[in-house]
Order: sequence, then C-alpha cells, then structure tokens
Amino acid sequence: MNDLELLLLAARAEFEAAPTPAELENAKARYLGKSGRVTELLKALGALPVEQKKARGAEINQAKTGIETALQARRDALAAADLERQLRAEALDVTLPGRRRGTGGLHPVSRTIERIEAIFGSMGFDVAEGPEIETDWMSFTALNNPENHPARSMQDTFYVDMKDASGRWLNLRPHTSPMQVRYARAHAAKYAGELAQGRPMPEIRVIAPGRTYRVDSDATHSPMFHQCEGLWIGENVSFKDLKVVFIDFVRQFFETDDFDVRFRPSFFPFTEPSAEIDIAFRSGPLVGRWLEVAGSGQVHPNVVRAYGLDPEHQIGFAFGIGPDRLAMLRYGIDDLRLMFDGDLRFLTQFN
Ligand code: DAH
Repeated sequence: MNDLELLLLAARAEFEAAPTPAELENAKARYLGKSGRVTELLKALGALPVEQKKARGAEINQAKTGIETALQARRDALAAADLERQLRAEALDVTLPGRRRGTGGLHPVSRTIERIEAIFGSMGFDVAEGPEIETDWMSFTALNNPENHPARSMQDTFYVDMKDASGRWLNLRPHTSPMQVRYARAHAAKYAGELAQGRPMPEIRVIAPGRTYRVDSDATHSPMFHQCEGLWIGENVSFKDLKVVFIDFVRQFFETDDFDVRFRPSFFPFTEPSAEIDIAFRSGPLVGRWLEVAGSGQVHPNVVRAYGLDPEHQIGFAFGIGPDRLAMLRYGIDDLRLMFDGDLRFLTQFN
C-alpha cells in the first residue's frame, strides 16, 4: 500500500468516526484545508523532477477525489441521521383523537333574556338596548330621585371619572330604568306632531334588558348583574294591565299555572303606587317559598313629564325584572357568582 492509499484509508476512518457535522468539518480541514495533508503533498510536487511530476500529480488528485467522495458520503450520512432523529421526535400519533373545537353555547343568562324577549315580544313589546354608562339625569333625576337619595351615593353606584355637559359625574347605570326615559323620550319626539295636535300616539310598550352595576358583592349580589326593564304607557293603561301581563309572563316563563302571585306594597321613587312582585310555586322543587321576581308600579307623574309626555293623558306601569334571579330559579342555581365565573364545567351544563 503506498502512502496515498494509506492517506485515503486514514481520511475515511476519521470521517466515519466524526460524530457531528462540526467535527467532520474539522477532520476535512486536516486533509483538504490550507495546511492539510493533501495540500502539503501538492505543494511538495514542485520539488519533484519534471518527469515524475505528472504521474505523482495525477495520483495525488485521485486520492484527493477519493477523500472528497468519502467526505461527502459522511456529510450525507450525518444529515440523514439528523433528519431521521427529527422525524422521530416529531412523529404524529395518528391514532390520537383529534382536537375538537367546541361549538360554544349561550350563557344561562343570555338564554333567559332571550326567553324574556320572546314572551314579551309575543305580547307586543318592543326590545330596546341602551348605554351602560349613563348620565346622572337619566339614572336618577328623570326617575324622580330626590337629590339626596341613597342610590346616588358612592356606596351604591359606580361612578366614571368623566363628567357630562352639566358637570355631573357619569355613572355605570345601577338599573335599566333609564331606558324607560330614553325610549319614551324618543317615542314622544317621534310622535310630537300627533301630540301637539291632541291626536292619539301609539302606546309605548317596551322591554329593555341589559347589564347593570352596583357596589355590591356576595352570594346573591354581583357588582355586574342584569335587569330587564319593562314599560307600558298609553291613555288608559292601569295597574290591572300590569297584573295581567306579568302573571301571563310568569306562566309562560316557568311553563306552569301552578303558582300564586302577590303584589307586595313597596317604594320606588319612580312609581306610585309601587309593588314588589312575589311568586310562590304550589308544586315542584321551589314549592312554598315566596320568591321576589320584580319591582313594579304605576309610573309617577314626574317621570311621565321627564318622558316629555303629559301625565294627564299618558299613564301606565313599569317593572324591573332580574334575569339572573330568574335564571337561577329556572335552572336551580343557588350561588349567583357561579353565573359570572366563566367556568366551563358550569356553563356547558346549559347547552
Ligand atoms: N329600578 C329598580 C331597581 O333597580 C327596579 C324597578 C322597580 C324597576 C320598579 C321598575 C319599577 O321599572 O317600576 O331596583
């Protein structure tokens, strides 16, 4: 074996032994680099007599080609091994069940509000929505709250760090009752022509569901909760109509006739007389307890005036329902906070 054959064998062995591409490149440098062994041999050619130069040069080049081939073979092998390793690491288990995207579903409160809308809708009530950030006038003054009414106080109402045109702090509406005023004022403006000529205006019949806010938090109160306002105003709308409408609502909502209703005298600044509406089921899981489901009353003349209407001609009733509470009664939920935690284990039970 001549020196070139030995060199080729040595190079092959070193390349084979290189465990990484970096070490392979180091090994390459020892043979083919600027001061590598092949390069040294080629430099040494210059010292040979002319007649030997050609043959020796050809032999060296042949050895060089062999070394280059061995180098490339090892490079390919290392790359293939690397790819193999990567593929194995990223292997897919095609037998695993796929990741499903849930279809989602309605929150129990949304379902309840939709139900309320459908029932009142069937009785000819429009559905309106309004702003959650309100002016002091809409939330309190127009609703006949005296200037010192406790509902205005910082303890009950969230205020927003921004003032309205009259210099009063805006509030996060503590009830949906301002929607009575907004809706009735828009209605009065729409029929201003009729009203000015003493002609009849279509009745106002509306519900206004939405989020409301109060500084309150325990098992039965959440700082954000829902209300649904109701308003029916016309020339001859009375407390009797409230009773008929509300009892019909309860019957449809709970899908039963088997309950008693009582209108318990109460006080709200915006209604006179005012009543809390309680129901008691005669059968089923909630039997025997009086459950408060709404506040209500005949709209106070001052409030009718705030609507932009004449309380000598336009009268009616309003009510405020708590959809959260209705959802809890309907689904048998005992802690209000569950409703707003966003826990899917709870929420998926309703879909
Ligand atoms: N706004 C009242 C509250 O938040 C609920 C209410 C009571 C609304 C009587 C009404 C009503 O429209 O007539 O407690």
